[in-house]
Amino acid sequence: MPTFKIATIAGDGIGQEVIPEAKRILDAIEKKFGATFQFQDFDWGADYYFRHGRMCPSDFLDQLRAVDAILLGAIGHPRIPDHVTLNGLLLPIRRGFDQFVNVRPAVLYRGVQSPLALRRGEHIDMAVVRENTEGEYSQVGGFVYHEQPDEVAIQTSVFTRRGTERVVRYAFELARKRNKKKRVTSVTKSNAQGYGMVLWDRTFAAVAAEYPDIETESLLVDAAAMNFIRRPESFDVVVASNLFGDILSDISAILVGSMGLAPSANIDPRRRFPSMFEPVHGSAPDIAGKSMANPLAAIFSVAMMLEHLGMPEAAEAVNAAVVSVLAAGKLRTPDLGGTSKTGEVTDGVLSRLT
Ligand code: NAD
Ligand code: IPM
Ligand code: MN
Repeated sequence: MPTFKIATIAGDGIGQEVIPEAKRILDAIEKKFGATFQFQDFDWGADYYFRHGRMCPSDFLDQLRAVDAILLGAIGHPRIPDHVTLNGLLLPIRRGFDQFVNVRPAVLYRGVQSPLALRRGEHIDMAVVRENTEGEYSQVGGFVYHEQPDEVAIQTSVFTRRGTERVVRYAFELARKRNKKKRVTSVTKSNAQGYGMVLWDRTFAAVAAEYPDIETESLLVDAAAMNFIRRPESFDVVVASNLFGDILSDISAILVGSMGLAPSANIDPRRRFPSMFEPVHGSAPDIAGKSMANPLAAIFSVAMMLEHLGMPEAAEAVNAAVVSVLAAGKLRTPDLGGTSKTGEVTDGVLSRLT
């Protein structure tokens, strides 16, 4: 019977509400599929910061290194500046464990309403593959004349041939594996950003030449944002830089109904380090503590984790149970127009799983 060590970092706001629901799903998977999940729960995040003046202990990467996967809720608190919280915990895990791919699927499921008036028969089923360790998030820069009236800030984007090539290659492999439209769209702003994103375009073209079976498209990010709305059904795999992938994956999430349905996987495909699974959404302070959070983004993230851990049947069972809850249309949190509580939605998933 396989045993997996799972680190959980529920974090802040609704992270504290959705991660316990995700763990209930894993408990059910244990019984049904004969695996054992050993949880290590870490109380890192804003409350830890209020007690210790930092988001987590300085050896946090060492504490996580030996686990098989990390399940994270959300980080961010209205009383702490976001660059402090996010650069203090979430982003250093992505970079420190070289989780250079961030996969963010967006599927319009039966029973869920898109905010778009789609033409009949149009189906949205795409995955944004976001570069996750460099680009605009490299965190290279600094202040000059810090906090003086003439202050200067420099924030540099770093694009490397290696970093671009490996994420683009992952996108092509994913398009092959998905076996859907077999199409990869690359998104840059190389008309204005004449170095880093030109390197990206050239690298994309070079990798694309190795995949003659996959159709390609290159879009500028402004046009890509427009086309996500105009022709969402045309996208299959979309590969983009760290910042552009971040922005586009909020658009793809809402196109298929809600931030509360969008999962993500931060992956080190070489498996030297643990990968991290988390909903795309944040701590949602506007609804935190009210049992209004949709747990399904976290639960879909559990399915991505099971797939990564080599349990594809279990992953499929979780996905199928969620899809069935959505199709039935009875259990819905307020983001999907219903009145169900967080835990009631999980109850529905569990009843279909077992
Ligand atoms: P957000 O994703 O937290 O919320 C955006 C909107 O979506 C809100 O109206 C919220 O109520 C709604 N929403 C999000 N998740 C939902 C869910 N599961 N169910 C129902 N509704 C949901 O984004 P924000 O408001 O821009 O950010 C809030 C905080 O979270 C900030 O501190 C931000 O930095 C942080 N953040 C963290 C992560 C992360 O940890 N991965 C991701 C995004 C934002
Ligand atoms: C996300 C979030 C993070 C990001 C923030 C909170 C730093 O928006 O995971 O999408 O931009 O990566
Ligand atoms: Mn984001």
